[in-house]
Amino acid sequence: MDYRKNYLDFFASRGHAILSSASLIPENDPTTLFTGSGMQPMVPYLLGQTHPNGTRLADSQKCFRSGDIDEVGDNRHTTFFEMLGNWSLGDYFKQEQISWMWEFLTREIGLDPARLYFTCFRGNEALGIPRDTESAELWQKLWGDGAAIIDFSERDGMQGGRIFYYDEKKNWWSRSGVPGNMPVGEPGGPDTEMFYDFGGGLGLHEGSAWASAPCHVNCDCGRFVEIGNNVFMEYVKTQQGFEQLPQKNVDFGGGLERLAMAAENAQDIFTTGLFAELRSAIESLSGKTYGAVPSETYAFRVVMDHMRAATFLVCDGAVPSNKDQGYFTRRLIRRAVRFGHKLGIIENFAETVSRAVIAAYASAYPALRLHEEKIVADFVKEEQKFRATLEKGLKVFEKQLQEIATDISRMTGQWLFDFYQNFGFPFELIIEELKTRDILISDEAFKKMFADFSVVFEAHKNLSRLGAEQKFKGGLGDQSEISVRYHTATHLLHATLKKVLGPHVEQKGSNITPERMRFDFSHTEKMTPEQITETENLINAAIARDYPVTFEEMSVDAAREKQAIGLFGDKYGEQVKVYTVGDPATTATADPSAPTFSREICGGPHVTHTGEIGHFKILKEESVSAGIRRIKAVVE
Ligand code: ALA
Repeated sequence: MDYRKNYLDFFASRGHAILSSASLIPENDPTTLFTGSGMQPMVPYLLGQTHPNGTRLADSQKCFRSGDIDEVGDNRHTTFFEMLGNWSLGDYFKQEQISWMWEFLTREIGLDPARLYFTCFRGNEALGIPRDTESAELWQKLWGDGAAIIDFSERDGMQGGRIFYYDEKKNWWSRSGVPGNMPVGEPGGPDTEMFYDFGGGLGLHEGSAWASAPCHVNCDCGRFVEIGNNVFMEYVKTQQGFEQLPQKNVDFGGGLERLAMAAENAQDIFTTGLFAELRSAIESLSGKTYGAVPSETYAFRVVMDHMRAATFLVCDGAVPSNKDQGYFTRRLIRRAVRFGHKLGIIENFAETVSRAVIAAYASAYPALRLHEEKIVADFVKEEQKFRATLEKGLKVFEKQLQEIATDISRMTGQWLFDFYQNFGFPFELIIEELKTRDILISDEAFKKMFADFSVVFEAHKNLSRLGAEQKFKGGLGDQSEISVRYHTATHLLHATLKKVLGPHVEQKGSNITPERMRFDFSHTEKMTPEQITETENLINAAIARDYPVTFEEMSVDAAREKQAIGLFGDKYGEQVKVYTVGDPATTATADPSAPTFSREICGGPHVTHTGEIGHFKILKEESVSAGIRRIKAVVE
């Protein structure tokens, strides 16, 4: 069954516009490296900005959570997943959302109500947020007689309940987590979560690390799996505490893979239909059967998760590299090669495996097919680089380990860095190799090694940003004035590069911090000093002309007709915003003596006049990978 389609059809028939997934690499959002939830691209609209597609929206969003790399290996964690989402922007609220969810889960997907459990927010007086009795009572009414509502306690366990109140650690949602971590300006609210019970008869709790306390729906033993989260996003954090947003929103997110687990009653996410092609590709490469030998299951899962995630990352522009998102792609592919090696796959497998991922997902994400050859080529290149030194690296590693095993302090940042340089083992993979050899490293030693390594590492700034779990720091930092100026400058640059270098130039990535902008684009040669000067001059002339910046909403087809540039991605049949620098009625030419300079598909925000941007200056033009160049620039 195609649960993705099922879900989207269900919400389309209830008046929702179906949006295509945003990129895994957030556009112009300096606060985070990856899109990790469906609501991330929705923040401005949850705060009140009008969405071009209306007040009822749904999608299936590609998500990547780098903090979960080490969690992969159990029955349900993956780094990449698809989050099914639906939103009400000041439209419907608890009553509709909860009854639709009930209908979707029990009728559309056919889940047995006896296996469904629910949690709601207990309320917190200090925060001034009341207990969510409305949601609890709605679930109770839908489930029918006997659905007891329990105020959950660790000590007493489930007590035969069906609906449980938990505190804000479990039943509050914002991008930054619990209320105390939220920056001012961030939206959030209480949530109600839905769980599927695989059954106490499986004995998952008994004998697990959690067996000393009674099992409950949020227990980590694996008996229950969360299949969706309905956030009632009606608050915003302010200096004083929490205030009601002008509109009451619904933000629903549910992992497609988890839903498939429940629908197929598959206790293991990797045995669901979503992984079928990938699983059999790895089985035939290794000559082994998934699940046959328990000690091999972990490696199978790592390979499946990492190769799937890396395929989507490369497709969205995160090609393997030493920096930022690209470093994660590198880490995933190399770790997959290493774990494939443990399964006996010693020959090139990147091509077969990435093609299997593309085959499984191309109908939902056509961009995979569009970029298939480029994705495969990037994979093969990365695999070859690492495989060339893998065997030798492992041997040298064993030898050096014997020398330093007695004194772990000799494994300095410099040593780790050299090992990465010579044999391609990312820092985290080396640490993992140590652990599998029972060489234990204390937290302090780990921190020191990581810090030293980072200092030596060319991109140490990027690494330390990535090292700890990705956290949202600035919240709405992306909306700050300087970011908005940079954002409009990005449009000017994009249009100008197409003029100066040729129409083949396409945006491949963009990242803005308060200090600078970075823009990746397709182009094979280094820019000449003349081309750089010409680019700067055209942009500064456009700034001096003080063009107005305005937007219109239109269909994707109309945007194409108007020759808007920008990331069309997998978009089809949607309303989009199109920003014009200059006169909205004439064609954009990137010529500062003409009425219109640029026209681009984009969500905003932008300055109202180009004069606000300030002086534009290119600091650096360099290569990021084959065929992709990068410009770093500032506005002053
Ligand atoms: N935004 C909510 C989540 O990610 C739905 O769980």
